[in-house]
Amino acid sequence: MFADIVSRAGYGEVVPPILEDIGVFARLGEQTDVVTKEMYDFVDKGGRHVALRPEQTASVARLFVEHRPTLPFRAWYSGPNFRYEKPQKGRYRQFDQCGVEALGSSDPDLDIEVISLAWDFFAALGLQHVDLVVNSLGEPTDRAAFTDALGRFAASRADELSEAGRTTLEKNPLRLLDSKRADDIAVMADAPTIDEYWSPTARDHHDAVLQGLHALGIPVIEDRRLVRGLDYYRFTTFEFRSPALDGAQNAIGGGGRYDGLVEDLGGPPTPGVGFALGVERTLLACDAEEVGRIHGPQADVFVVDTSTSGAALRISTALRRAGYRCERSYDHRSMKSQMKAADRAGATLALIVGEDEAASDTVLVRDMRHDSPQSLVHQTDVVEYIRQVLTPQSDV
Ligand code: HAM
Repeated sequence: MFADIVSRAGYGEVVPPILEDIGVFARLGEQTDVVTKEMYDFVDKGGRHVALRPEQTASVARLFVEHRPTLPFRAWYSGPNFRYEKPQKGRYRQFDQCGVEALGSSDPDLDIEVISLAWDFFAALGLQHVDLVVNSLGEPTDRAAFTDALGRFAASRADELSEAGRTTLEKNPLRLLDSKRADDIAVMADAPTIDEYWSPTARDHHDAVLQGLHALGIPVIEDRRLVRGLDYYRFTTFEFRSPALDGAQNAIGGGGRYDGLVEDLGGPPTPGVGFALGVERTLLACDAEEVGRIHGPQADVFVVDTSTSGAALRISTALRRAGYRCERSYDHRSMKSQMKAADRAGATLALIVGEDEAASDTVLVRDMRHDSPQSLVHQTDVVEYIRQVLTPQSDV
């Protein structure tokens, strides 16, 4: 479903490698937890310092620098990421993400586009309660001036911060804004806010993003404290939160603009914006809301074969080759047990082959949804017959 939504918008799939040179991830931020504490890195047999990817934005930027696709380059990906975190519900050392990255344009329409793609995906899953939280970190100079001001402010109240908060202050005062410790929260409530430092360009960009989201009917919660855990962001940052999940792990997705990343990785100045959603957390949110129960695709046809003629193998292969979802049983189960399996598979039609049908090379076609008369069809005509009564399912 994710692939469907993003490819309708013109995003093509990329498959970044799981293992990258450690240098690719340096730009996530020298003082970020992702880089200092959570990286699965090691030196390989050839003496190269490599890491399992903790996320995929940096890898997409790296592959952009290497292959220089035409602009705008818009790509989507999915797959595992690795962070050495303390495992708990919704926080894992290996977790999956689906995401998109759009490189080559500073147009706020692209910020709006990527946000709306994620929004539409959550809606398509059936999630009713997703909060979209948006902020802007401004231009790099705005962000630097704000970080300085924040550092000065927090230093003036250092004795009120938690011990861990004082360490954060030394490393990266910005991170104090998303501290979950009560002492830090109380102090930071009086801290300066980033909007006081936005340049006119940053303010205009932010306003355009808010207006565009409003025009699409996407509700926004503005939060000046949203700084995110990675250092490459400029201008727009955003997070999707599920109020149905525990506070510390309630972000089901996040992203933002990272206009300097490609240049930092050795490419030409290239703006970029994207998001990634956490697959496990999204599923936890679906469970919590009791929606989006993802059933496997329903079968078009179920071949029930109680004969010893090998009909199930031949017929299911022929139908699958013709584009139908076709299931069958194994291990010579009884008719009753195979009919139950056909029911569980949600099959539209059951094709039944007992010894009598096998002897005459026929199948009995039963409509599983309506009480209509069964038809007897010759096995060589089965595919054609199914073609007349069903249309093949397209990809999900
Ligand atoms: P992130 O906020 O670090 O951003 O991760 C995105 C999402 O991945 C989170 O909102 C969360 O749902 C999920 N996630 C992160 N860490 C874990 C974990 N340890 N266990 C389970 N789920 C987790 C990024 O990764 C950026 N690359 C997003 C982005 C794309 N920015 C621009 N483009």
